[in-house]
Amino acid sequence: MIVTIDGVAASGKSSVSSGVARALGVPYVSSGLLYRAATLLGLEAGLELQNAPGLLAYLQIHPLRLEPLAGGNRIWQGERELTGELHSTRVDAGVSVVAALPEVRAWVDAQLRALPSPFVAEGRDMGTNVFPHAGAKFYLTASPHVRAQRRAQERPEDVPAIEAALIRRDALDRVQSAPAPDAVVIDTGPLTLDGVIQTILAQLPE
Ligand code: ADP
Ligand code: CDP
Repeated sequence: MIVTIDGVAASGKSSVSSGVARALGVPYVSSGLLYRAATLLGLEAGLELQNAPGLLAYLQIHPLRLEPLAGGNRIWQGERELTGELHSTRVDAGVSVVAALPEVRAWVDAQLRALPSPFVAEGRDMGTNVFPHAGAKFYLTASPHVRAQRRAQERPEDVPAIEAALIRRDALDRVQSAPAPDAVVIDTGPLTLDGVIQTILAQLPE
């Protein structure tokens, strides 16, 4: 079975997906890391981020490999691990431009659909576009302020700057971020991380 966990930026998707996946004994799959890795390579190659043919040609020559583990996903370009470089402010600022390119979305979707199930998939459009027949679908939300406070624990930036960047990225990602009509929407604001994980586990089909 495939479980999808979508949601807005910093709503807890990867932490929650990791917890649910570990409880189920399956991997989780972070679609955002593929968009982030494509963005990093585009920036490093000096490409205009809107240049879909240039980016796709580069990705054909330097293929990326997503390693979906329950504890945390890793991304490789050959022998080089990119994972640690994908959550920079520079990648955050450019990724929505790359993710708006239909060619890049098709490239990500093909990689995700080729993965052997079962797994938990997290992102924006896992339950709508990529795995519409998933066995269970969830959508995480929280206010921008709560999300910024959480992210500020992980990064050396202040809450207002993070909050402004999250609101900007939410707006740029709006097109692909609508919840699936059959997704269970969870406001994670009043819950602990474990509370969100247990809420999801309790609603999974037998
Ligand atoms: P996303 O993958 O949506 O960007 P993350 O999984 O990186 O989100 O979560 C952002 C941070 O919020 C993490 O440090 C996570 O541990 C923390 N967090 C704190 N409380 C919660 C909660 N109730 N639900 C989800 N995440 C939470
Ligand atoms: O963790 P966070 O929500 O901050 O970001 P992410 O899930 O790693 O996604 C990074 C970016 O990739 C998002 O801001 C979107 O632009 C894009 N993305 C997308 O368009 N579709 C997905 N399924 C996943 C990510």
